[in-house]
Amino acid sequence: MRILVIGTGYVGTTTIMAFAEMGWKITGLDTDTRKVSMLRKGVLHFYEHGLEDMLVKHLKTGNITFTSDSEQAIKAHDIIFICVGTPSNPDGSADLSYLKKVANEIGHSMNGYKLVINKSTVPVGTLEKVARWIQSSQIEPQTFDVASNPEFLREGNALVDALHPDRIIIGTQSDKAAIQLRELYQSMGCPVMLTTPRTAELIKYASNAFLATKISYINELSRLCDQLGVSIIDVAQGMGLDSRIGHSFLQAGIGFGGSCFPKDVTALIHTAEDLDSDLSILEKVMSVNQSQTMYVLNKARKQLSGFRHRRIALLGLTFKPDTDDMRQSPSLRILDKLLKEQAYVTVHDPVAKLTLDSRRNWKQCKIPEQALQRADAVILCTAWPLYSELDWSRMKHIMNKPNIIDGRNMLDAKLMRSLGFHYQGVGYE
Ligand code: UDX
Repeated sequence: MRILVIGTGYVGTTTIMAFAEMGWKITGLDTDTRKVSMLRKGVLHFYEHGLEDMLVKHLKTGNITFTSDSEQAIKAHDIIFICVGTPSNPDGSADLSYLKKVANEIGHSMNGYKLVINKSTVPVGTLEKVARWIQSSQIEPQTFDVASNPEFLREGNALVDALHPDRIIIGTQSDKAAIQLRELYQSMGCPVMLTTPRTAELIKYASNAFLATKISYINELSRLCDQLGVSIIDVAQGMGLDSRIGHSFLQAGIGFGGSCFPKDVTALIHTAEDLDSDLSILEKVMSVNQSQTMYVLNKARKQLSGFRHRRIALLGLTFKPDTDDMRQSPSLRILDKLLKEQAYVTVHDPVAKLTLDSRRNWKQCKIPEQALQRADAVILCTAWPLYSELDWSRMKHIMNKPNIIDGRNMLDAKLMRSLGFHYQGVGYE
C-alpha cells in the first residue's frame, strides 16, 4: 500500500511514525517547506516525547519520506490520510478551511482510485462534505472512497497511544475501504470497530467531552471537599475502585486546557445548538472549568489579602507535563489575572518559553529556585515531576512567605506543613 499523510503537525507526524514502526512505507506531505526540510534532517518542529528518535530511526530504515509537492504526492499514493488542523472559529464552531483546501487538492490531482481517510477532529457530517469537495474539484471523474478514522492521542504520550491504542474506529460506507483499513491496522491487536462515518466522528467528540466532564465533575466536587474537610484525593481513590468508574481523569486541579478538550467540547455544544438539541451538561463542564481556575487563584488572593505588589512564583506554563504546549493552558489565565491585579510574577517552566510584553511586571526564570526567591506565595500550575522533587525545606528559606497553592495536588500536604509551609491544595487540605 502506498500511504500518504497530509499534514505534519502533531497528529500527522505521530501517525507517520506509528505506520513506519508497523513496517509500512509512508510519505508525509506538508506545504510548509521549512517543516519538510527540518523533518528530512530528522528534526521535529514541535516537542513530543520519543517522536524525534523515531523520526531519525525511520529516516534510516527508509520507511518514511517527506515532500511538499502536493500534486505529485497525491498522484503517487492511493491511500491518503488527512491530518490537518481544525481550529475553532470565534463562535466555537470548527474551522474546516484547511480540510476543504486539502480535499480540493486531492480531487484536482487524482489520477486513479484513492482511499481518503480523515483523521482530523471534525463535526459530524464533515466526511460527507469531504467527499463532495473531492468530487466537485475533479478534472476527470475518478473513483474514490472516504473514511473517518479519528485519533485519540494524548500529547506527551502520543507515540505510545498510537502504537498501543485502546481501539481503532473506522467509519466508512465502503467495504473496500474497510478491508484496506483493517489490513493497515492488523498488527495492532486491539478492538477494531467498524461503523458509519457520522458515528465515528461523534465517537471522537463524545469521548473527549466525556473525559472533560469527568474532570469538571471532580473539580467541582473538590470545592465541596474544601468545605467538608474531606480529601478529594481519597474520594477519587474510593470512586475509582469501582470498575465502572475507573481511576483516570479524576485528578482535581486548576482545570483542563490544551488544544483538544476546550475546542472539542465547544464544537460539540455548537453542533447541538445548530440542531436545536440540548447538551447543557457540556456548557456546565466548560463554565466549571473556567471558574475552577479562578477558584484556585482565589485561595492565593485570600491568603495574601490581594495581589497588589505581591511577589508570586508561578510554576508550570504548559497545560500538562511532558509537552511544550501552552494552548488554553489554565496557567496563562492565572498569570494574566495576577498581572492585572498588579502582582510581580516570576514564572518557571522546564520547556515552554513565554513572549509577553517586556514592560509588564513579570520575569521568566531558568530554574525554579530563582522563581521562588523572595516570593510571597508559589502557585503550582503544571505537575512537572521537577517541582515535587524540589528541596522544599530549602525553598522555604529562600521564599519571603511560606505560602504554597498547589493547583495540581502534587505535593504531600502533611510533609509541607511539617516543613512550616501554609499549604493549600484543591479539595485537599
Ligand atoms: C486529550 C485526550 O486525552 C486525547 O484522547 C485526545 O486525542 C486529545 O485530547 P490531551 O489534550 O493531550 O489529550 O491531554 P490529556 O492528557 O487528556 O489532558 C487534558 C487536560 O486535562 C490537561 O490540562 C490535564 O492537566 C487535565 N486533566 C487530565 C486534569 O485536570 N485531570 C485529570 O484527571 C486528567
